[in-house]
Amino acid sequence: MLTDELRAEVARLKAERDAVVLAHYYVPPEVQELADHVGDSFALAKLATTLSHKTLVFAGVSFMAESAKLLSPEKTVLMPDPTSDCPMAHMVRRETVEAARERYGSDLAVACYVNSTAEVKSWSDVCVTSSNAVRTVRALPQANVLFVPDRHLGSYVASQVSEKNVILNDGYCPIHRDISAEEVRALKAEFPDAPVLAHPECGPEAMALADFAGSTSQIIEAAVAGSACDYIILTVDGVRGELERQTAGTDKRFHFPATRPVCPDMDRITVERLVTCLRDGSGEVGLPPAEVAEGARAALARMLELGR
Ligand code: 13P
Ligand code: SF4
Repeated sequence: MLTDELRAEVARLKAERDAVVLAHYYVPPEVQELADHVGDSFALAKLATTLSHKTLVFAGVSFMAESAKLLSPEKTVLMPDPTSDCPMAHMVRRETVEAARERYGSDLAVACYVNSTAEVKSWSDVCVTSSNAVRTVRALPQANVLFVPDRHLGSYVASQVSEKNVILNDGYCPIHRDISAEEVRALKAEFPDAPVLAHPECGPEAMALADFAGSTSQIIEAAVAGSACDYIILTVDGVRGELERQTAGTDKRFHFPATRPVCPDMDRITVERLVTCLRDGSGEVGLPPAEVAEGARAALARMLELGR
């Protein structure tokens, strides 16, 4: 529970530093409450390029803060815990990208999920997020698309863009992969009329049970707009706060798998660490070496252009 004193202290520190706090839906609810903007990866990446504040505080994992720094290198970008890293961001090898380029030549595009390091982005032609991956891959002129690092989002894209040869890589999100189809079936038995809304990082068995697939924002939008009372939500439990806020006063209820999906890296973004970072200016995110930064920035810029 946040006290008025704490809220006032955070507001004072933000003003002192000319800072704005951007939080992902997966960070703890009290951090989302202290943020100026809460959103999914794409919304936050886009928004960060439009803000005039001197300092961006990214309450999320490192690929999010790093992307903001790449797109706004003149800004100070801080992370409450700079060790919060998405494990999937590292799950692709350069040889995989090189082998595909060798095989398909100029008829190959490398599409890289933003959940990736700057180095991985720099090997790629375009970045995507879960909210624009289908649209962006469809808009690419090449017939072959190597999708990295996430095999599951890649498979979902392949199922929606059948006109392209989508080549998959072996990365995955451990949290979404471990959402158990068994537990989803149990929820469906308990709430037979509830639509299943899933993040496309879920594994194939859970995805086969879904009625809708989308990013965290798209899941929230679908639940808010839907006419059902009960919804089965297959993503990290952090979205619960926003779902409940946006449906307050209705009889909508949200059901998550029995093994609560939590992202330990997102959970490291605590209120205490947010306050320390605002007070001390700690957790500053730097730019990668120039050649990496240039390639990564180009892939991100292309996403903002194509994925609008
Ligand atoms: P979104 O693209 O919905 O923000 O999801 C990011 C993420 O890390 C999912 O695990
Ligand atoms: Fe990475 Fe999964 Fe955590 Fe998202 S939920 S940040 S993909 S580990």
